[in-house]
Amino acid sequence: MARSALMNVMTQAAMKAGRSLTRDFGEVQNLQVSMKGPADFVSNADRKAEEIVFQELSRARPEWGFLMEERGTVEGRDPQHRWIVDPLDGTTNFLHGIPMFAISIALERDGQIVAGVIFNPALDELYTAEKGGGAFLNDRRLRVAARAKLPESVIATGMPFLGHGDHARFLFESRQIMAETAGIRRMGAASLDLGYVAAGRFDGFWEHELKPWDIAAGSLLVREAGGFVTDTEGAKFDVMQGDICCGNELIHRQLLAELKKANTAHRGGGEPVAAKG
Ligand code: IPD
Ligand code: CA
Ligand code: CA
Ligand code: CA
Repeated sequence: MARSALMNVMTQAAMKAGRSLTRDFGEVQNLQVSMKGPADFVSNADRKAEEIVFQELSRARPEWGFLMEERGTVEGRDPQHRWIVDPLDGTTNFLHGIPMFAISIALERDGQIVAGVIFNPALDELYTAEKGGGAFLNDRRLRVAARAKLPESVIATGMPFLGHGDHARFLFESRQIMAETAGIRRMGAASLDLGYVAAGRFDGFWEHELKPWDIAAGSLLVREAGGFVTDTEGAKFDVMQGDICCGNELIHRQLLAELKKANTAHRGGGEPVAAKG
């Protein structure tokens, strides 16, 4: 598959960082781990991978700025372009020896995500998308799943954890979704959840309070694979807001309707809808 110059830059940065993560994943017990907040881990593997991505992208496009999870904002001289980078999405998985983690790199141009790359080095799976050019997994063109009904669908989510998110709201939402679908999955890396929706593995995905680097590349992948992406109330998706709901047109619509029911019940102090037999 012929890749554009931009895609080459992004995939090379992701794959180089991937080699560093693979080495560190092999000796995870030797990593230095610290906490940024409750259950919010960061290790020297995250920082090394971020440094590699930063160096590679800065060398290729010296004028462009960054928004990165660990380093924060790095202003560029070109106000139109910004890289949005998660050097290790799924740190908790990584530190537990679970091979569901990825590097996520997106390019924002004039406030719009125009290119995205997500790489899971443990499975050697590289997701790429450019606005208007389709989404790919390695060399295969992606299309979201065609399932039309929630009862046939597997829906991914991210659940709140120690010190993070609205636990009660999640219980209402997940109880509603589990009552209406073939299953819920919590994989632990939002970028890969979105890659899996784009690949038709998951039929849909919703999560609250994510960060731009978790969802910038993945939201483009889902759209380029023919999916619909909004916030969790059906409003226009904004990468800086962090609430996301996606799937094919029909599943996306049904998922939003179930989330609405769950939140109406939650706000009213009522019971979520009981599971069907
Ligand atoms: C986390 C993952 C996880 C999501 C968390 C994120 P990190 O990112 O994407 O799936 O549920 O909210 O913080 O910290 O491992 O890069
Ligand atoms: Ca983190
Ligand atoms: Ca992340
Ligand atoms: Ca991260």
